[in-house]
Amino acid sequence: MASSKKKQWLGWILSKDKLDEKQKINFSFSLYGGSSQDYKQLDALAKEIKKELKTRGLKARYVSSQKSALSSVIVKKNNLLGQELLIIKEKDGYLLGLTEAVQDFAAYSLRDYKRPDRDQVSGMLPPKLAQIMINLASQGKKDKTILDPFCGSGTILQEALLLGFDKIYGTDISAKAVADSQANILWLAKQQNISAKVVIKKADVSDLASIFDEQSIDLIVSEPFMGDARFIKHQDKIAPLEKIKSELQNLYLSAFEQFGKIIKNQGKVVFIFPLFAIKEKNINTLDILTISALGWRCLESDLLYSRPEQKVKRQITIWQKIA
Ligand SMILES: C[S@@+](CC[C@H](N)C(=O)[O-])C[C@H]1O[C@@H](n2cnc3c(N)ncnc32)[C@H](O)[C@@H]1O
Repeated sequence: MASSKKKQWLGWILSKDKLDEKQKINFSFSLYGGSSQDYKQLDALAKEIKKELKTRGLKARYVSSQKSALSSVIVKKNNLLGQELLIIKEKDGYLLGLTEAVQDFAAYSLRDYKRPDRDQVSGMLPPKLAQIMINLASQGKKDKTILDPFCGSGTILQEALLLGFDKIYGTDISAKAVADSQANILWLAKQQNISAKVVIKKADVSDLASIFDEQSIDLIVSEPFMGDARFIKHQDKIAPLEKIKSELQNLYLSAFEQFGKIIKNQGKVVFIFPLFAIKEKNINTLDILTISALGWRCLESDLLYSRPEQKVKRQITIWQKIA
């Protein structure tokens, strides 16, 4: 069995015939969803393949890392585009794939870490996630009015500008957040040589209907206030987190009441609900029934964005206003 797998994998590597500038074949694999035992077996197989390539007179380099899946940085820096086999374990078999492209990590990192104002206390959304959320809301259509009502340091506004939206609004209760967003947008516009067509105002989310006209917004994309991150990080008792949950649910409910007034019928909201993972228990701030009762249809609630050790996980939800 192992020898037939080896033959297949070897055949595949040779069929790619992709040598780097040192005339070497670089190859690797990433395993998703498998056990550490599965990984060890595949790693051993890859080492055998490297030997086999050498006995055939070919220079080969097998790239592995500490983790069972390689990062985009490793793939790019080791010339593995087209040579990284993706092995995805399913319930009843495996899916195989090939990495053709990776994210532009250098550009994301520049937009995240080199912008003038970062607010580590309130928390910042990774630009990549901001982009995913905008795409989930817009389905690629740029001629929409888009609002982030908890704009913080402006990550969603930045990504909307880069994606080509030209009716972009941001609001936040904090004057500092408004100033930070403005500075970051101006910086990005200068970097990219584009005009900074973004309107940013100071406003409490429960007051949105006094700022925006009725049914004037197409899309709302937001990561809201998710509680005091420094407090939550060191908290392992359920009761204080239940209290935070209830306060946040009131805030989100009031936000969705306002969204219902300013968004167009059929307009979409992509919104993050925090989920606190403590001692094997999940404290979930998403309450689909209560928000749906305000006139919203929940289109998606199963997207979780988190690292395994993270205490505050992000549950990404998609909503549509019922006409
Ligand atoms: C998690 S941050 C948003 C981070 C933002 N997505 C970013 O990447 O920069 C939450 C923001 O919500 C704002 N906020 C808290 N309560 C608010 C309220 N009632 N109305 C509007 N904004 C509020 C805070 O000032 C903070 O800037």
